[in-house]
Amino acid sequence: MTRRVFIAGGAHTPFLGKGSPDFIWKRHPDFGTRENPTLREHLTSAVTMAAKDAGADPAVVDKAYIGNFVGELFVNQGHLGAALAGVHPGLAGKPSMRVEGACASGGLAMVCGIDALRAGSDVVLVAGVEVQTTASARVGGDYLARAADYARQRSIDDFTFPALFARRTKHYREKFGVTEEDIGRAAVKAYANANKNPLAHMKAAKMTLENAAAPNDRNVNFLANEEFSPYLKVSDCSQVSDGASAMFLVSEDGLAKLGLTEADVTEIVGYGHATSSLYVDGDPCALDTTRLAAERAYAATGLNAGDVGVAEVHDCFTLTELLMYEALGFADAGRGADLLKDGAVEIDGRLPVNTGGGLVGFGHPVGATGVKQALEIHRQMKGRCGDYQMPSTPGVGLTANMGGDDKTVVVGLYRNLG
Ligand code: CAA
Repeated sequence: MTRRVFIAGGAHTPFLGKGSPDFIWKRHPDFGTRENPTLREHLTSAVTMAAKDAGADPAVVDKAYIGNFVGELFVNQGHLGAALAGVHPGLAGKPSMRVEGACASGGLAMVCGIDALRAGSDVVLVAGVEVQTTASARVGGDYLARAADYARQRSIDDFTFPALFARRTKHYREKFGVTEEDIGRAAVKAYANANKNPLAHMKAAKMTLENAAAPNDRNVNFLANEEFSPYLKVSDCSQVSDGASAMFLVSEDGLAKLGLTEADVTEIVGYGHATSSLYVDGDPCALDTTRLAAERAYAATGLNAGDVGVAEVHDCFTLTELLMYEALGFADAGRGADLLKDGAVEIDGRLPVNTGGGLVGFGHPVGATGVKQALEIHRQMKGRCGDYQMPSTPGVGLTANMGGDDKTVVVGLYRNLG
């Protein structure tokens, strides 16, 4: 029989970067006197706050996993399993490892943690971290392009990933007749939710539908690729963020060790994990790997799309959120925008999605995102979301974390136990 797995608690650091009033850069009043937190500082704060939230002494941890994509490039730091073991004295000597799957690195760290608990561990620490603001967006675009097939796809544009998703947007709009305004609603929702979230990168930035619906002086088509440039503006993109998330996962015996009851925790009912070839691209109008991961998650748990009451989906670009709705079974092909138009995915809608702002609003410190998504579901289920708390407590939640252009995907399903 499979052992049950629960989220005992966790924490995020504030997600920081250009556009956040707390990010130190040349126009910030503290520029020159104070610096942005380092990767080590982000990780230390997330783990320390997570231990407090879960009521867990890190010394009880059996195993630890950390998601990170390219620490070697942004901050000259690899070997992050040892970094995690170094952020709290109780973690010294613990078995700890770094897991990498591009922007799904955090989701893969979750998978490792869940599998470890199912195999007999009782308390597992799962963390994710990325610091990306050390480089310009253009240089960072080159680093992030390592998540694509670099030899084949790097030359599409300096901003490789934005261009890959502009390509999808072009095909999708042509096939389904969806407008820029239809897709822009995803950005408006992301920023509006982030404006209620004190940890969000874009907590102070406003986004109107007028601004999101067409390019303008403040919201430009920034790609150099002439074919794809008209299909992507700055407002369609996730943020280049620094930040960390950490979470304590436990078995039933682990619950007892921490003195928690089922009412305190969220059950991770199951997950689906799918990976497709880096070297071949699928249908630009669908996320087929995400669909496969979702089918596996639904089959593993006996749940289906209609059961889901809250979701965190990988909106690396605005169109990706629509494609996610369709791959996860929330909407038919070509109809994802309907959920935004009729308000279903708003915080007070029937299926709230990305309540804290998602990757566009909350931010996207790549390796942290998959861990952040799971913790957000737990926080909604336990009424911890403050101004962005849903009006009714969800019973079932879903996360979908994607690496690369729909290449590595982890879909998780969660149940609120009380
Ligand atoms: N007028 C004219 N041009 C402008 C402009 C304006 N007002 N604003 C921007 N530009 C142009 C300029 O050409 C500029 O480049 P240079 O300054 O180098 O010439 C370019 O746009 C970028 O501008 P900035 O550097 O000022 O942009 P920024 O720092 O505000 O960042 C962004 C904006 C480029 C959209 C950035 O947020 C970004 O790259 N976001 C996407 C991040 C990303 O791709 N993450 C990965 C997602 S994919 C995923 O999740 C899966 C995976 O595995 C990777």
